[in-house]
Amino acid sequence: MSQRRSPAPDPQHGGHLFAPLQLRSLTLRNRIVVSPMCMYSCPDQDGMANDWHMVHLGSRAVGGAAVVFTEATAVGAEGRISPFDLGIWTDTQAQALAPITAFIQSQEALAGIQLAHAGRKASTQVPWSDTRGQVPIGHGGWQPLAPSALPFAPGDRAPKALSIAEIEGIVAEFGAATARALRAGFQVVEVHAAHGYLIHQFLSPLSNNRDDQYGGSLANRFRFLAQVVMAVRAEWPDDLPLWVRLSATDWAEAGGWDIDQTVEVSRWLKDLGVDVIDCSSGGTLRSAQIPEGPGYQVGFAERVRKEAALTSAAVGLITAPEQANRIIESGQADLVLLARAMLRNPYWPMTAAQELGAEVRWPNQYLRARPKVPVARNTASVVGPQ
Ligand SMILES: Cc1cc2nc3c(=O)[nH]c(=O)nc-3n(C[C@H](O)[C@H](O)[C@H](O)COP(=O)(O)O)c2cc1C
Repeated sequence: MSQRRSPAPDPQHGGHLFAPLQLRSLTLRNRIVVSPMCMYSCPDQDGMANDWHMVHLGSRAVGGAAVVFTEATAVGAEGRISPFDLGIWTDTQAQALAPITAFIQSQEALAGIQLAHAGRKASTQVPWSDTRGQVPIGHGGWQPLAPSALPFAPGDRAPKALSIAEIEGIVAEFGAATARALRAGFQVVEVHAAHGYLIHQFLSPLSNNRDDQYGGSLANRFRFLAQVVMAVRAEWPDDLPLWVRLSATDWAEAGGWDIDQTVEVSRWLKDLGVDVIDCSSGGTLRSAQIPEGPGYQVGFAERVRKEAALTSAAVGLITAPEQANRIIESGQADLVLLARAMLRNPYWPMTAAQELGAEVRWPNQYLRARPKVPVARNTASVVGPQ
C-alpha cells in the first residue's frame, strides 16, 4: 500500500485554490470541496436517494467543485440522525446512488460519500419540524445507541450502552457500507468521526465512561475509530483516498476532546491508511461556547497538517475566494470545504475562479454566460485544468 499513499504535504508551501491535488490515483481539479450536508429528504423514511439528491449534488458538480460529498449517509437504520436521512445499509440504496455518482463524474468532479452513525444523537426530528428533540419510539423513532448510557441533552431518552458484540456489528456495517459505496461509483470515502456522533462519542471522555477496552486511555477511546477505519480500508481500493472528519475540540472548559488528542490520533490514522483529516469541531456539548467567526477552525487544520504531516482540510465559515485561497497558499490546509456558501451559490467555484483570475471548466451548456473579460488578479500560476 505504501507506494500508493498520497504524498505528505510540504509544510512550507500550499499552492493555489485552483491548483490540482493528487490523492492516491485521483487528481482533484482544485482544492474546493462540497462539505457533507444533511438533506433529510428521503420522504419514505427508507434511506433511498431520489431526484432531490441528484439535483442538489449534481448542480454542485456542475458548479466546479473538485469533490462533492453526500450528506452523512447512515451505515445502518439505527445510525440515522432523523428518519429521513440517506442510507447505504442495503444494496437497493446503493443502486439508487449510482446514477448520482455517474452524473457527478460526468462533470469532472469526484463523488464522495460520508459514512456515518449518529449514536446517541439518532432518532431526532428534522430541523424544520414543528416539534424539536427526539422522535418517540412507536412514532417513527427508535432507541439510540452509544458507548455509554449518557444522554446528549437534558430530558433526552438515555441511549443504550453498546455491548462488545454490538460494537463489532457496527464496525462490520461500516465495512459493508464501504463495499456498497464502491459499487455505487463513489471515489472518495469520508468516515464521519465528528460533531458528537457515534465515533466522536467514543473519542470524547465527556460521552464515554466505559471501563473496558473502549474507554479510559486515549488509545482505548480511539479503538472504535481504528476498527472502523480498518474495516473501511479493507473494502476500499488501495488507489482510492480515505478521509476522516474529526471534531478537533469539544470546546469544553475541561476534560473534553481537544486539538492535542486530535493531532495524536491523526498520526495513528495516517498509519492506518487515512489520506486526509477534515478538521471540524464541536458537537459533544450542547452548551459549548464556540467562537464562531471567519475561518475559526482553520488553525486546527494547520496543526494537523504541520504536526501530523498529513493532508488536511479546513471547514467552517470559509466564504470568500480570497480567504479560501489564502488558506491554501499559506499552507494552513490543502483543501477547503464549504457548506452554507455552497447552498447559497452552487457555482461558487466558478465565480471564485473569476474573482481570482483562474481558468476553470464551464459546462458547454453554460458557456454563453461565461464573462468574457475575467477580473484578472493573481494571474501568475493560477491557471487550473480546463
Ligand atoms: C444544512 C447542513 C447540513 C449539514 N450536514 C452535515 C453532515 O451531514 N455531515 C457533516 O459532517 N457536517 C454537516 N454539516 C456541517 C457542514 O458540513 C460544515 O462543517 C459546517 O456547516 C461549517 O461550514 P460552513 O461554514 O461552510 O457552512 C451540515 C451543515 C449544514 C448547513
